[in-house]
Amino acid sequence: MLNVVIQNFDLKGIAFNNILYGEEGNFSINISPDIKIFPDKKLTSLEIITLKNSLINITNDELIKVRFESGHILEILELINSNFKLETVLKLTEDALRKLLNSDGASILLYNEDKHVLNFYVTSGGASGYIETIDVPIDSSIAGECFKRKETIIINNAQKNPLHFKKTDMKAKYKTKNIIATPLFFENDTIGVLEAVNKKSDVYTQEDIEVIELFSSLISNKLMNSKIYEDLSSTIKGIILAVATAIDLRDNYTHTHSKNVSTLSIKIGKELGFNDSFLEELEIAALLHDVGKIGIPDEILNKPSKLTDDEYKIIQSHTIIGAKLLSEIDFLSKNIPLGALEHHEKLDGTGYPYNKKDGEISLFGKILAVVDIYDALTAKRIYKEPWPKEKVLRILKDDCPKKFDCEIVKALEKCVNI
Ligand SMILES: [Fe+2]
Repeated sequence: MLNVVIQNFDLKGIAFNNILYGEEGNFSINISPDIKIFPDKKLTSLEIITLKNSLINITNDELIKVRFESGHILEILELINSNFKLETVLKLTEDALRKLLNSDGASILLYNEDKHVLNFYVTSGGASGYIETIDVPIDSSIAGECFKRKETIIINNAQKNPLHFKKTDMKAKYKTKNIIATPLFFENDTIGVLEAVNKKSDVYTQEDIEVIELFSSLISNKLMNSKIYEDLSSTIKGIILAVATAIDLRDNYTHTHSKNVSTLSIKIGKELGFNDSFLEELEIAALLHDVGKIGIPDEILNKPSKLTDDEYKIIQSHTIIGAKLLSEIDFLSKNIPLGALEHHEKLDGTGYPYNKKDGEISLFGKILAVVDIYDALTAKRIYKEPWPKEKVLRILKDDCPKKFDCEIVKALEKCVNI
């Protein structure tokens, strides 16, 4: 068991002034089977989670003194750990790195096995926006050398170093003066390079090596997990989109309805401040909200003349059929079948299938109800021309808060008026 004592623990500013090993204090937290820490004060559960996330990859038994000059490193790490989306993780990582190393720019390069080069994934600073499409050669660049050697490199006079890959500077009209690069690992494989350029006040030092290496070890697993998650998620989304398109094609009246509802729902979700994982759920819920139409006979779904009362009841059952189908898929969140079940409910209880009222309808149900009607009325259908969006917004506004949620209608209005 490795004992760690943290002194002067401060979540808001400097993360750790001292991390010492070996002296026991009054409070202890088990980080892993090998590491136990002793902070000098009792921590809240949020602080403990944050600390665990931060320390989980530190397994060496040397004294580590990391002085983070600025930034809220624990908060940043907590943010990184709570996000699955690769794009967000990379951006947060790059931001933190640039601040911690007091540098003009920072980049994350990931190894492209097909071309045997490194590609920029996220960049910042003066060269950002110019270099993303460049293939950085492994054999003639500082990042490549770091990747090959599997160790941190500092070059404090980049322009005179033969390994400096000048194409990035030329393309960005930027002058790289100094650079620090460290490899990113996943298990035993090197997966990329983390680098910072042009330290603002000075040259890169041994202390910077400790910071960048600690950071690399903290984020390597996270990066790879996010990438795996992203690949898997895009495959699953592709399948869901194919199902949604098949549903739309079966209904002669609504060819791109599910896709439209999904696109607009995501915009509304963003406007309402939802986080990434909630937005992903909303996207799937929107794409599949009409999946129950699979169980409605063609002659009723596509009947050109007026429906009888019985036929209308059958059409209405697509909500129940959809919810049942989706609730049988274990890995889907319960919000998704709820969206299918409730997207025709109204806050005053005049909707279907269960005449639910406000307080009984889920947030997804409320959002999809608004977007479903907006898209249905503004789209061209075989039996009608598209209605102007102003007219549809007026109808929705007149019906809130009676039938629709005012906040959602307000967000919709903002999104379609951009
Ligand atoms: Fe529907």
